[in-house]
Amino acid sequence: MTAKIIDGVALSRQIREDLGLRAQALAAQGRRPGLAVILVGDDPASAMYVRNKVKACEAHGLHSVFEKYDAGLAEADLLERIRALNADAGIHGILVQMPLPRHIDPHRVIQTIDVHKDVDGFSTLSAGELMSGLPGFRPCTPYGCMKLIESTGVDIRGKHAVVIGRSNTVGKPMALLLLQASATVTVCHSATPDLGLHTRQADILVAAVGRRHTVTREMVKPGAVVIDVGINRNEEGKLQGDVDLDGVREVAGWITPVPGGVGPMTITMLLVNTVEAAERSLLHT
Ligand code: GUN
Repeated sequence: MTAKIIDGVALSRQIREDLGLRAQALAAQGRRPGLAVILVGDDPASAMYVRNKVKACEAHGLHSVFEKYDAGLAEADLLERIRALNADAGIHGILVQMPLPRHIDPHRVIQTIDVHKDVDGFSTLSAGELMSGLPGFRPCTPYGCMKLIESTGVDIRGKHAVVIGRSNTVGKPMALLLLQASATVTVCHSATPDLGLHTRQADILVAAVGRRHTVTREMVKPGAVVIDVGINRNEEGKLQGDVDLDGVREVAGWITPVPGGVGPMTITMLLVNTVEAAERSLLHT
């Protein structure tokens, strides 16, 4: 079997077209969706991610505010800035790019963002809403992975889904989203002794490990849907996922490539959450 490629670029484009229309409709009601993006420090990778987020807003009719602070910014000043954005009616989503400098507590920062503007879905309130099956903001990467899985037409209900990785931003919310969609879910992590034993049972396999080629063809059930969250660089600087794409595509039914799979969906879901936040703000006022 040769796996069908799940095209994250094409799916992103489709979702963004619809979003552009929603943003226009909101703007017509005086509620142009607005995202504030805060970067503290000079990490080049973070600067690039943030630039892409701001550019995506501009391309789809969202208002964006980009604030960059030097690495020495005091935590209290950052919190004060977040409180001001919480009170700003033109801003519907607030994103503070992680990681932050070591002297700033990321939890305190995330908890200061108004839950109605927590478009990253990282706060304990948003996490609790996901856990309880309540509407709220879902973290963008796992939310995008769900859209990619749904786009295959494979029914998630009753399937065995295996997630590799247990981070608060990807692995744990991914497992909860799959559970909510009525999959039977196994979560594997760095202390799982025989990874292949679990992955070979997966109808849906999500790899969010952060290590190149962790998933090889012998570890994949024939016909499985394989979602690769990894963004790793090899010795030549080439982008590679957590899955050995060339090997695994010979056995899987569906697979996301790296690049061009999960990556574009993460920013798309940030736009989705921001438009959603603006739509919900119409209901509150
Ligand atoms: N750093 C890397 N990915 C992300 C993300 O999705 N959101 C935030 N806030 N920081 C990040």
